[in-house]
Amino acid sequence: MNDRYLARHVAGLKPSGIRKFFDIVATMKDVISLGIGEPDFVTPEPIIQAGIRALHAGETHYTSNAGLLELRQAITSHIRATYGVDYDPLAEAIITVGVSEALYLTMTALLNPGEEVLIPTPCFVSYQAEVILAGGVPVEIRTCVEDGFQVKPEMLEAAITPRTKAILLGYPNNPTGAVYTREVLLEIARIAEAHDLIVISDELYDQLVYGVKHVCFPSLEGMGQRTVLLGGFSKNYAMTGWRAGFACGPAGIIKGLVRIHQYTIMSAPTMSQMAALEAIQHGQKYVDQMRDEYDRRRKLIVGGLNQLGLPTFEPHGAFYAFPNVGNTGMDDETFAQKLLEEERVAVVPGNSFGAGGEGFVRCSYATAYEKIEEALDRMQRFMHRHG
Ligand SMILES: Cc1ncc(COP(=O)(O)O)c(C=O)c1O
Repeated sequence: MNDRYLARHVAGLKPSGIRKFFDIVATMKDVISLGIGEPDFVTPEPIIQAGIRALHAGETHYTSNAGLLELRQAITSHIRATYGVDYDPLAEAIITVGVSEALYLTMTALLNPGEEVLIPTPCFVSYQAEVILAGGVPVEIRTCVEDGFQVKPEMLEAAITPRTKAILLGYPNNPTGAVYTREVLLEIARIAEAHDLIVISDELYDQLVYGVKHVCFPSLEGMGQRTVLLGGFSKNYAMTGWRAGFACGPAGIIKGLVRIHQYTIMSAPTMSQMAALEAIQHGQKYVDQMRDEYDRRRKLIVGGLNQLGLPTFEPHGAFYAFPNVGNTGMDDETFAQKLLEEERVAVVPGNSFGAGGEGFVRCSYATAYEKIEEALDRMQRFMHRHG
């Protein structure tokens, strides 16, 4: 069917670089994939059981549009206990189909045509597309390894125009693993206040930090009233397939999100909401176990890549290492392609994540320890030939 019927803003969307690459990987045998952005762990058993119990108990109906009140209460209590931020579960929280939907709702609810969203990059592949789909204009602010992939406040401020509506942050960061420091976040807060901007803070990986403390953006003074906090279950609790997430923020904004959600989704899957409730109420022990294992793998992969001559920034969050491949004389696309063809190791070219990602590749350590060891052996052979 001819795609001339597609709306221009949809036809113009680029396919995600990650998908393109993984379509090739899917046709190959014996590949070790460091490419996937999701936990290799299966969802912890008690959480699975809660989902099954919900089905057997006949919880097969819609929930309220904003989601199960009990889950909204559990999420807001958890945020209050962990970060000291107060949200009213009745008016300031919505359960969504993952952070993916929460991002879509937030952009659609906030943006008038042509309004700009500042996005520090490299970043999660959907950010720019979500802004475009909502009729807005993404403005990429490049971060670099020398600054620990933290956005330079002066660059952020210099990009502000009369059309700027919001800043979209993602930390712990996919793909760099950077965790924003309180100092940088305070600077961003000052800029948001001075220019009356909304901050959309995607903190999906908030519990996956190693040796540092995660600072929740709305916990900064004055920021609760201008932040939409996005979070969820996919990464912390190894629940990607359940599709459960949330947004919390000022009642006036959340009301807008609920309205769009009501007409597009109705309510997030009920059994997933019940499973998420079990996760947030009783799942901490599993998060801690998985985090410890990620940390062990993190040390292995970061040390290993540096030893191979691929300088790798120390990631303090999420589950990605982001080595620079410039020493090989190849760009990131060529490196990823040749590594896959010659040694059957899949990594993601950094340019898929926007400006500043060129010359780097993303290696996920949400992969079994032994597989990372084998991948490093294969990469050593590769570097012997190309280093
Ligand atoms: C930073 C970031 N935000 C959002 C998402 C989407 O997550 P969800 O499964 O909650 O839709 C991802 C998934 O990789 C991510 O890395």
